[in-house]
Amino acid sequence: MRVLGINAVFHDLAAALVVDGVTVAAAEEERFSRRKHGKQPVPFSTWEVPEKSAAWCLEHAGLVPADLDAVAYSYDPNLATEPADDITAGEWEGLRTLYARRAPLFLRAALPGLDPDLVRFVPHHVAHAASAYLAAPFRSSSVLVMDGRGERASHLAGQTTDGELEVLAAQRLPHSLGLMYEELTDHLGFRRSSDEYKVMAMASYGEPRFLPELRELVRATYDGGFVTQRIDWNVFVRRLGKEAEWGSEHADLAASVQVRLEEVVLDLLYWLHERTGDGELTMAGGVALNCVANSRLAEQGPFERIWIQPASGDSGTALGSAMYVAHEIGDAVEPMQTAALGRGWSDEELGAWLRTAHVAHERPDDIAEAVAEVLAGNGVVAWFQGRSEYGPRALGHRSLLAHPGYTENLDRMNEIKGREQFRPVAPMVLAEKAAEIFSGPLPSPYMLFTHRVRKGWEERVPAVVHVDGTARIQTVDGFEEPLVARMLQAFEQRTGLPIVVNTSLNTAGRPMVDDPRDALECFGSAPVDVLALGPYLIRRSTFNRRDRP
Ligand SMILES: [Fe+2]
Repeated sequence: MRVLGINAVFHDLAAALVVDGVTVAAAEEERFSRRKHGKQPVPFSTWEVPEKSAAWCLEHAGLVPADLDAVAYSYDPNLATEPADDITAGEWEGLRTLYARRAPLFLRAALPGLDPDLVRFVPHHVAHAASAYLAAPFRSSSVLVMDGRGERASHLAGQTTDGELEVLAAQRLPHSLGLMYEELTDHLGFRRSSDEYKVMAMASYGEPRFLPELRELVRATYDGGFVTQRIDWNVFVRRLGKEAEWGSEHADLAASVQVRLEEVVLDLLYWLHERTGDGELTMAGGVALNCVANSRLAEQGPFERIWIQPASGDSGTALGSAMYVAHEIGDAVEPMQTAALGRGWSDEELGAWLRTAHVAHERPDDIAEAVAEVLAGNGVVAWFQGRSEYGPRALGHRSLLAHPGYTENLDRMNEIKGREQFRPVAPMVLAEKAAEIFSGPLPSPYMLFTHRVRKGWEERVPAVVHVDGTARIQTVDGFEEPLVARMLQAFEQRTGLPIVVNTSLNTAGRPMVDDPRDALECFGSAPVDVLALGPYLIRRSTFNRRDRP
């Protein structure tokens, strides 16, 4: 069966295609439209659907809309607030429901030939949950979803066996751990439902001295759910304007909320584990992107293994809803093998892009060796290889790479990307070397946990050690990622370090680079030394030399 999954209701528009139980394509609309997060998460934008990414998924598989057996939409308007007589009530919430109901028609307009009767609504948190338990390499698991909100809830706890989900608890709005974190993000001068990871980074600079108050306001209720009372953030610290300087009191508030979040989620995990007794936990929802919390859950929680889907935010519900419907209609859904589910180009196509742009380039014998040489000489490399990643993390396909041994490379990378200087950059490390250098959950192929850097290594890789002595690593397995592993091996041969700095290939406020044009534009506008576009090497020193075809 051919099932197209669609996430469209809030933000992070995305599409995914599952054919006979196998995920063949998944992509976020922002990578095509170049508009970060795809759209604003307001009721008025509910009609917007991921038309470019959905069309690409079909094209990639050689299908047209009429070939589909089902379309899965990751929100069920029948569970949502009914429109009242006054459509403006509840900040236009009823309008969202009306638009979601019309989604089949909006999808037909975006994908001519699509039969709107094929559209099935999948409850938002069921879609998140399925994106974890059906994508995970386990036949059964406990599952926990936490995000800002779905139709009327912000959380789901359940158990799954052979693809069947039993929901054990669901916390209704207005209580929401995700919305609490979003509100804090807004209070600290960042963009809500977008910049939460900046708050998480800021938290490591603070002391959690507001914990006693937060423990009153935010707590588990021991029925599987929790309470988040309305918080007047000004009681703790003054509101920060955009770009305003933050002080230790802001970091202290971030630290307090971060720690309280971890404590409450630990309580939720113990409640869930008591009911299921499972060894495995799968997680999704925006809160599951909090890698600091995830590591504490792995360390102190009751589950032996935690698996988190790399596109845990709303974009992942496109895949989750498609997998869920594929399972419902009888396909055996196969676990996710890789996050590299987006667009890719052949060597010939990449060469044609370079010739069209008249860009001087070389084709070394081995791009992995050539890039390792540049990195070992402390050059910064834009690394564009294979299919782009699904989800917010660069996992060695659209990455910016650097030498981890120079402290100043942290500032250098943040400058290239136009990011705040307090933000850490992360390392990628050969999987077989990770345990020597880092302690924490291993393997960690999707950068969803933080790890402690072992003694003796902080001084060797200072650029990737955060202020609290941790690093958010990606482990690279030579079987799954042969090219990246070869590059890391070649770098180790030259430097003794099986690690490079890896951050997403984009500049400030822009979505990650996806196609070769984005890569060339990014390279043309940022002080990066080398672009490795597939097998081709483009050097800054010769970039301006017009190459005649
Ligand atoms: Fe969500």
